[in-house]
Amino acid sequence: MVDDARWMAAAVAIGERGRGRTAPNPAVGCLIVRDGQVIGRGWTQPGGRPHAEAVALEQAGDVTGATLFVTLEPCAHDSVRGPACADLLIAARPARVVVALVDPDPRTAGRGIARLRDAGIRVDVGCGAAGAAASMAGFLLRQRAGRPHVTLKLATSLDGRIAMADGRSRWITGDRARRHAHLERARCDLIVAGAGTVRIDAPRLDVRIGGLTDRSPRRGVLTRGQAPAGWERIAAPEAVAGLAGIDTVLVEGGAGAAAAFVRAGLVDRLLLYRAPILVGAGLAALGDIGLDALHEAHGRWRLVDARMLGSDRLEVYDRVTD
Ligand SMILES: NC(=O)c1ccc[n+]([C@@H]2O[C@H](COP(=O)([O-])OP(=O)(O)OC[C@H]3O[C@@H](n4cnc5c(N)ncnc54)[C@H](OP(=O)(O)O)[C@@H]3O)[C@@H](O)[C@H]2O)c1
Repeated sequence: MVDDARWMAAAVAIGERGRGRTAPNPAVGCLIVRDGQVIGRGWTQPGGRPHAEAVALEQAGDVTGATLFVTLEPCAHDSVRGPACADLLIAARPARVVVALVDPDPRTAGRGIARLRDAGIRVDVGCGAAGAAASMAGFLLRQRAGRPHVTLKLATSLDGRIAMADGRSRWITGDRARRHAHLERARCDLIVAGAGTVRIDAPRLDVRIGGLTDRSPRRGVLTRGQAPAGWERIAAPEAVAGLAGIDTVLVEGGAGAAAAFVRAGLVDRLLLYRAPILVGAGLAALGDIGLDALHEAHGRWRLVDARMLGSDRLEVYDRVTD
């Protein structure tokens, strides 16, 4: 069981390679292991096909006696773009299949697992579920709530400012923190900035890390007016729910846009980069979020990661949902 957890964690890490490129399909990871050796590995390919299992099976060839670890239940539905993964597995006949999460897609929703079991293949479910759920948060939220997963990024001074009083904000954080933020960009489907930021900073909002420059996501501007050329118009925070192919969104500020997403109850994760500087009179990180009483602010966010990036500190918070 310890080994199962270790292999599944590796399958989740492999699945991460597809993040930001597979929507509307989830970024699944798959490892095939025999006698402690990996004989096949796969992750969902750009555009959502081939699926991770198909890639790993192709690589492994003969999977007799092997265990297949997959972060999401193998699909049970045929598609014009490829056969159902459950059927591919039944034809290949690994000794065992370990699945982290049941697929909430109503076309599968337990049918993939049932089909494997009916064919006499042992299936264990639930190993590494938390890690897989975090990795596929956008897909899962889209299936369950009909909207994408939203991360809000803020780069602040120690005193919570995101810009000088005159609007200048380059740069608050250092090089390592900014590169980390670029990596986060590469892992989402859409980046959104407020019209004020687009006007003041004219940001590119692309990915500028060597090897990942082809992974810049779509970019949108939150505005009640017209979007400038090259920007998708996002008329309201709630509008992201209606965008096809968008399961993960990164909101990059400024204060007005950030507050609008928080006020709409749409922020699921906070990325807080804090630089060891004081700005004093400047722009606060968030505008009005509609808070009526201080006690309402408590218990809303849970710290899930904290680390130093050069001299800046990154803290990651998830919204408390239970
Ligand atoms: N340090 C950081 O992390 C960081 C990141 C980004 C920006 N910044 C700084 O933040 C400053 C800009 O912040 P800001 O607050 O002035 O502007 P902003 O948040 O970038 O944009 C505000 C605009 O967003 C639109 N908007 C807001 N709520 C909306 C809603 N509910 N529905 C539709 N549209 C909505 C409106 O655009 P319309 O008026 O066009 O309708 C509004 O004027 C700049 O100084 C920039 O340098 C800092």
